[in-house]
Amino acid sequence: MRLYILCCFYGYIYIFLSDPKDMLSVTIPLIGTQHPLLGETVILPCYFEDHTVPDPGDPTITPLSHRIIWSHVTTEKVTTILVALEGQMSISSTYLDRVDLMSYPQTPANISIKISELRSSDSGVYCCEVQNPLSKGLLLFVLSGVVFHYRPIMGRYTLTFELAEEACSLNSAVVASPAQLQAAYGDGFHQCDAGWLSDHTVRYPIQYPRVNCHGDKKELPGVRTYGVRDLNETYDVYCFIEKMTGRVFHVASAEKFTFSEAASACSEQGAQLATTGQLYLAWKDGMDVCNAGWLRDGSVRYPISVRRPQCGGGLLGVRTVYLHTNQTGYPLPESRYDAFCYTGRPGV
Ligand SMILES: *[C@@H]1O[C@H](CO)[C@@H](O)[C@H](O)[C@H]1NC(C)=O
Ligand SMILES: *[C@@H]1O[C@H](CO)[C@@H](O)[C@H](O)[C@H]1NC(C)=O
Ligand SMILES: *[C@@H]1O[C@H](CO)[C@@H](O)[C@H](O)[C@H]1NC(C)=O
Repeated sequence: MRLYILCCFYGYIYIFLSDPKDMLSVTIPLIGTQHPLLGETVILPCYFEDHTVPDPGDPTITPLSHRIIWSHVTTEKVTTILVALEGQMSISSTYLDRVDLMSYPQTPANISIKISELRSSDSGVYCCEVQNPLSKGLLLFVLSGVVFHYRPIMGRYTLTFELAEEACSLNSAVVASPAQLQAAYGDGFHQCDAGWLSDHTVRYPIQYPRVNCHGDKKELPGVRTYGVRDLNETYDVYCFIEKMTGRVFHVASAEKFTFSEAASACSEQGAQLATTGQLYLAWKDGMDVCNAGWLRDGSVRYPISVRRPQCGGGLLGVRTVYLHTNQTGYPLPESRYDAFCYTGRPGV
């Protein structure tokens, strides 16, 4: 007996057992949840075997006469990635440049697909389906990692490449790669500030082009690039954090805390102030706090996962409290906020 999981119907997942003697079987030879990283390229393997014996007189079923459907299932919706039949394939517009049914039609029973520039929104269940008759295989993906824009206390465009590496590292992260920034852009990341990437280029992701954010793409949305820059030039930076072993939690008190009181409040709980990268990961896991809190680098931020006008102006993401209206500087250390702490102990 083999275990097959049938998915894609109304967003529910069905499980049933099927016998290898079944006429048509579909297999995905990967076990368990996969955790690819943001920006990576992966191959999702899927194969089918057809043991159908046609009735005498019926036309022979050729491998290419099966309809192949790949779809992506989340709790919100089911999206068709591609459909292939008779050696022809049609890829949905949203996947056009980043999906390929690599061995088709040369090896019709190998219906593995390649997906590049993985985005956070690619998390979910992948369903590989062969008709007719119907048989399916399934794979679960949870994307890891988050890209964030980082500006130090000194102000806008103050980081050489070396300082940029240091800034990311102090925030539990590394300088993001172009593929990671591109993937974050695919998830909707918009930031009109030029930042270092790991290949020594300077880029920024723009969804809504406007004056002063046009860069090299004029009115078109997309990631702008200044190309490879001299490492002594100064910009902001885009950092990437993959995962954390512990957890971030919020601490509040009626009087709120100065920066040093916040650090003590965390250590009283056997923790320390969280880094900016850790807060971004917590936000990506759904943390939602409408009060700003101190972080280890002296910045003050808060994670918003539920859209509401009174919290972060109705915007989602990690919001930052700057000292100046031009979005530079961190609050003075004696000003009062909550605290975000990090403990290496996993959550309860
Ligand atoms: C099936 O196709 C994929 C993508 O081209 C390839 O990586 C894989 O090796 C193939 N599998 C076999 C068993 O040939
Ligand atoms: C960058 O700065 C360092 C240290 O100030 C200097 O040694 C180096 O020559 C500079 N490099 C360039 C390309 O300007
Ligand atoms: C932002 O404002 C501060 C204070 O007004 C000023 O010192 C700084 O030069 C400004 N920075 C930029 C990039 O405009």
